[in-house]
Amino acid sequence: MGIRVEPLHPHVGAEITGIDLRRPVPPETFAEVEAALNKHAVLIFPAQPITNQQQIVFSRLFGPLETSPDYAGSQKTRLRRREIADISNLDSEGRVMSGDDKRLLFNRGNQLWHTDSSFRYVPARCSLLSAHEVPPTGGETEFADLRAAYDALSEAKKRELDGLVAEHSIMHSRAKTGFTEFNPDIRRQLPPVPQIVVRTHPGSGRKSLYLASHASHIIGWPVEEGRRLIDELIAFATQPQFVYQHRWRVGDLVIWDDRCTMHRGREYDDTKCRRDMRRTTVSDEINSVERERGRESRA
Ligand code: OGA
Ligand code: MN
Repeated sequence: MGIRVEPLHPHVGAEITGIDLRRPVPPETFAEVEAALNKHAVLIFPAQPITNQQQIVFSRLFGPLETSPDYAGSQKTRLRRREIADISNLDSEGRVMSGDDKRLLFNRGNQLWHTDSSFRYVPARCSLLSAHEVPPTGGETEFADLRAAYDALSEAKKRELDGLVAEHSIMHSRAKTGFTEFNPDIRRQLPPVPQIVVRTHPGSGRKSLYLASHASHIIGWPVEEGRRLIDELIAFATQPQFVYQHRWRVGDLVIWDDRCTMHRGREYDDTKCRRDMRRTTVSDEINSVERERGRESRA
C-alpha cells in the first residue's frame, strides 16, 4: 500500500500518512516519499513519535548527515548525538534556559528567514525536525517556496540574477540578532562561502532562488548594493502567497528541502514555555555554484 499525499498549500507543503517512521522504510515507499518531497518541498508526517535513533536511521535514507558544531561553546549537550541539532530552549538538565543563555540567543537566529547550512561550502539537501514538546501559543515554523517565487519574477529580474553568486556566513546572520560570541574554533571551521543565487533544483528540474539570512552580499558588487538586492529578494519570496505556516503538534516530523525553500521559526515565550525540537540535517553532494556551473558546461 502506498503513502497518502495531501497538499496543504498551492505551492509548498503536503501531509503524508500511511507510513510508520519507527519501522524500516522499504525502498519503494522511500521512493514515494522522495517524489513527494521533490514536488511539495515540505512534508508533514503527523503522529510519528520517534526516538533520536529512529530519526537518524530514517534521515540517513536521504544521504549523509551533518554533525552540528558547538557554536556557542556550551560543551554540555542534552541529546548526546552529534547528528541531532538541539533546537530546543532546554539546558543540559532539561530545564528552560535563562534569557541570557548563549544557546538560546543563538537559536533565536532561526527566527530570520534562512535555509539550513548555506554557510557551509557543501550546504544542506534537506532537514528533518521532530516535535517532542510544543508551546501552547507561538513557535510555528513558516516555509517559503523559492521555486514559485522565482517563477513570479519579471523576465528582466531573472536576467539580472543569472549567474550571480552570494557570500554566505553564519557570522553574518547571527550578528543580525546580536549573537557574536562564537566559539573561536567556529570562525576557522566555517569561513564565508560562495553560493549561487539562482539554482536548478535537482529533484524537479525547476529553477529556484537560493537565499538566506546567512547571505551577506553579492560577490563582485559593492557590498551595500548586494545587500539591498538580497533583502529585496527575501521580501519578495516571503510574500504570503508563497508561504505555508506549520502549527506544530507533539509527534509531528517535518522534512523540508533546503535547496528550494526558506524557513523561519516564529516567536514564543522562550524563557517560560518548553519547546523541544530535534533536527537532523542531510548534507547535499556539492557546493551550489559548482553544481550550477557543472550543469552549464554539460548543457
Ligand atoms: C531549524 C529551524 C525553526 C523552528 O530547525 O533549522 O530553523 O521553528 N527551526 O524551530
Ligand atoms: Mn533552520
